[in-house]
Amino acid sequence: MKQFLSINDVPDVSELVHQALTVKRNPDAWKELGLYKTLGMIFMNPSLRTRLSTQKAGNSLGMNVMVMNVAQDGWNLETGDGVVMDGDAQEHIREAARVISQYCDIIALRSFARLKNQEEDRSEAFLTRFVDEATVPVINMESATGHPLQALADLMTIEEHRSTTAPRVVLTWAPHPRALPQAVPNSFAQWVGKSDAELIITHPEGYTLDPEFTAGAAFEPDQNRALEGADFVYAKNWSSTTPYGEVLSRDRDWMITEEKMSLTNQGKFMHCLPVRRNVIVTDEVLDSPTSIVIEQAANREFATQAVLKRVLEWIG
Ligand code: CP
Repeated sequence: MKQFLSINDVPDVSELVHQALTVKRNPDAWKELGLYKTLGMIFMNPSLRTRLSTQKAGNSLGMNVMVMNVAQDGWNLETGDGVVMDGDAQEHIREAARVISQYCDIIALRSFARLKNQEEDRSEAFLTRFVDEATVPVINMESATGHPLQALADLMTIEEHRSTTAPRVVLTWAPHPRALPQAVPNSFAQWVGKSDAELIITHPEGYTLDPEFTAGAAFEPDQNRALEGADFVYAKNWSSTTPYGEVLSRDRDWMITEEKMSLTNQGKFMHCLPVRRNVIVTDEVLDSPTSIVIEQAANREFATQAVLKRVLEWIG
């Protein structure tokens, strides 16, 4: 795999899910594959799971791993062409990406949606520019429109817990006080769409996800009806899409409760984390055996290790 920016870089999603599950069973089996190779992790935004799981995944493959929180520790980056750089930005992405490439064999990048300009976010302006300037493979640790490492871990978790070949999976919007990107629900819908699962999406008006990511999914505006018979309930907040990037609803009736989970087929509760307790989901659900959020987070390590392994094999 020459890069991992989105599902488009994955020839066979099911095969990669099973590769990640194989890595999970024996994570030390490839501990020399990345010897003398360096992974550079570049964060424009905060992280807990992605940072730690990616670092561990690189180490398990024998890689040297460097981490930089550019937003806190680096220079402000300019991305525009022909800009007179007499404002806040001290460095252009053109030099930054090429310099980082000098020190690394693989670069992993996190750069969230700005939620100001829908077209800018849809075009993945920052990620695309960075990839264009970098001279080594780039891995997406969450970009404006996607979080494919999370989606791979989510599919692993569903695979481990499913009891039918075609589980009913519900992606439900849930309330949150701040405007969040659509990257996680986009990727979850897109990757589940490549599996045998039946996907139902439910959300309030104004929150329709980009159809580029939701092909094949059904939409049910009534959350309770959507949850009926669900094998998996994936709760996530995302900001509105029409208009773009706003908090249109804070309706607590969309929070996942034990009562709502009782509508499901003894469904498992999923969330990518971090999660706001008693806003997105109640304590009772999150602390119950139906919650598999910690296993999802654990699978982030092996999902990333499988992806790094593929990229290292491509580098040779
Ligand atoms: N799910 C996830 O990506 O978590 P972090 O933002 O903490 O990395």
